[in-house]
Amino acid sequence: MLGKHSKLIFAVSIGFLVVAIIMASWGFQKVVDKQIQKSVQLENDSLMFDKWLKLPMPLDFKVYVFNVTNVEEVNKGEKPILEEIGPYVYKQYRERTVLGYGPNDTIKYMLRKRFEFDAEASGGLTEDDEVTVIHFSYLAALLTVHDMMPSLVGVINKALEQFFPSLEDAFLRVKVRDLFFDGIYLSCDGDNAALGLVCGKIKGDLPPTMRMAEGSNGFYFSMFSHMNRSETGPYEMNRGRDNIYELGNIVTYKGQGIMPMWGDKYCGQINGSDSSIFAPINEANVPQKLYTFEPDICRSLYVDLVEKRELFNISAYYYEISESALAAKSANHDNKCFCRKNWSANHDGCLLMGLLNLMPCQGAPAIASLPHFYLGSEELLEFFQSGIAPQREKHNSHVYIDPTTGVVLSGVKRLQFNIELRKIDTIPQLSSVPTGLFPMLWLEEGATIPDSIQQELRDSHKLLGYVEVARWLLLTVAVIAVIASAVAVARANALLSWPRNSNSVSFILGPSVTQVNKGN
Ligand SMILES: *[C@@H]1O[C@H](CO)[C@@H](O)[C@H](O)[C@H]1NC(C)=O
Ligand SMILES: *[C@@H]1O[C@H](CO)[C@@H](O)[C@H](O)[C@H]1NC(C)=O
Ligand SMILES: *[C@@H]1O[C@H](CO)[C@@H](O)[C@H](O)[C@H]1NC(C)=O
Ligand SMILES: *[C@@H]1O[C@H](CO)[C@@H](O)[C@H](O)[C@H]1NC(C)=O
Ligand SMILES: *[C@@H]1O[C@H](CO)[C@@H](O)[C@H](O)[C@H]1NC(C)=O
Ligand SMILES: *[C@@H]1O[C@H](CO)[C@@H](O)[C@H](O)[C@H]1NC(C)=O
Ligand SMILES: *[C@@H]1O[C@H](CO)[C@@H](O)[C@H](O)[C@H]1NC(C)=O
Repeated sequence: MLGKHSKLIFAVSIGFLVVAIIMASWGFQKVVDKQIQKSVQLENDSLMFDKWLKLPMPLDFKVYVFNVTNVEEVNKGEKPILEEIGPYVYKQYRERTVLGYGPNDTIKYMLRKRFEFDAEASGGLTEDDEVTVIHFSYLAALLTVHDMMPSLVGVINKALEQFFPSLEDAFLRVKVRDLFFDGIYLSCDGDNAALGLVCGKIKGDLPPTMRMAEGSNGFYFSMFSHMNRSETGPYEMNRGRDNIYELGNIVTYKGQGIMPMWGDKYCGQINGSDSSIFAPINEANVPQKLYTFEPDICRSLYVDLVEKRELFNISAYYYEISESALAAKSANHDNKCFCRKNWSANHDGCLLMGLLNLMPCQGAPAIASLPHFYLGSEELLEFFQSGIAPQREKHNSHVYIDPTTGVVLSGVKRLQFNIELRKIDTIPQLSSVPTGLFPMLWLEEGATIPDSIQQELRDSHKLLGYVEVARWLLLTVAVIAVIASAVAVARANALLSWPRNSNSVSFILGPSVTQVNKGN
């Protein structure tokens, strides 16, 4: 009787153990993963969707300007002394408009950014501060002409003297407000034929930094106004419903799957997300590189995995930009298609370490780099007397990702804009200046999740911790049940069929059984 019962219990507990093993090793994870996917995928009832449509908090958009403090000396050929002024802090709000859904699990949208000056975060700095910076648009126009039709450069310079107000040299004295957003008025009024040519060319190309003035014949030049005025896109992004690890990947931008301006299938690849959303990280296959697509520079960039690190008591993966991303072709052959044309006679068709030629992207001879030429060639630093000092903590780009949800705990993206200051003998403004790459300003775009979301994440991790405990508890209970019922079976067998093998039984089953044996 007892034997039959314990055998049944034993069979049941073995069944329980099998179920527990399956649940613990696979089932629980499946259920949890499904639940996470449901909340992070881009479906209009998911937790993430509303936050994705309208970012719940603004990003910090910080601008640092390089004020030139020895203009007179630079005009005589001396090395520049720069003074970094900043940050001028703007709040950047982001909103998306959904245009529709694509066939391959994609969502199509436009992205709208809006900027507001944050006087408090900017400390004592105001938008009325006056700075002296390299004259970006003047040099851009002049260098373009100098590279394409060097014989015309004198005539064009005469026209530019009319176009730009009070053009004494290659430097611009300007209020921060006008340089960033409000704009500097450039007049097309005048009977100079070359001026008509210049204005016609600008009207035709209409680079993002120029906007037509209303009610008069001219333009406004400003660095960021276009970002505040217009939407970008359309973007087509993976929604992560079919494959959660594809979530956030941009598939096309402006209807194109490859950025055409680099003239190369590899360099034109659109990789990664728009840096607002990332896929959860598969702990069994942690990506070594994390890509983001940057429409402002027409390419994807990446940060490299450094290590797993705690941030806000949440364990996160830390990624940081490395030398290879903006490496010269000699150091990273993959970058060869980013350097299509000589920007200076000294170099072999490619830029130095740490630089990206934006000519193909923006139609202007602008050069992007990390701030202070961090991770760039030493040669770039030699051009300055002082004011340029690259530092990893201040000038890198990095991101902390919560692996479970893909949420960015904290991240910053930094980029500097430069233009060549070139000695051109026939141009009075440039006849004595030193030749070198001159920085104008650098940007930092970043965010750190607020305390409330940190707490939400910690709570959900705690919950996952409980699930983990429950998993092991279930397994333990099942193992104990199996052992206990095995004991019961064995004991029943011992009672029925003693004295066979009494030694081994007593060895396995311990003192109580041994005593029973002895008693007999
Ligand atoms: C939710 O998304 C689906 C497409 O997946 C769409 O057909 C539906 O209209 C959306 N619902 C709402 C309420 O927007
Ligand atoms: C920038 O430098 C100029 C001197 O070249 C100086 O007059 C001006 O006050 C500086 N601007 C700021 C905001 O410090
Ligand atoms: C969807 O994906 C398939 C296979 O990757 C591809 O051939 C097809 O062009 C894609 N369709 C669209 C509209 O992108
Ligand atoms: C951005 O544009 C809005 C109007 O759309 C304007 O109110 C705001 O002042 C602009 N931001 C900046 C920094 O100029
Ligand atoms: C794009 O991503 C693929 C796959 O991850 C990678 O092999 C390739 O190098 C990336 N392309 C660029 C231009 O970074
Ligand atoms: C992190 O955890 C430690 C100990 O568990 C605690 O003392 C500390 O306050 C926590 N920090 C945050 C930011 O929650
Ligand atoms: C770049 O300039 C160098 C030296 O002037 C020249 O040898 C080289 O062919 C040029 N490369 C291209 C792609 O124009």
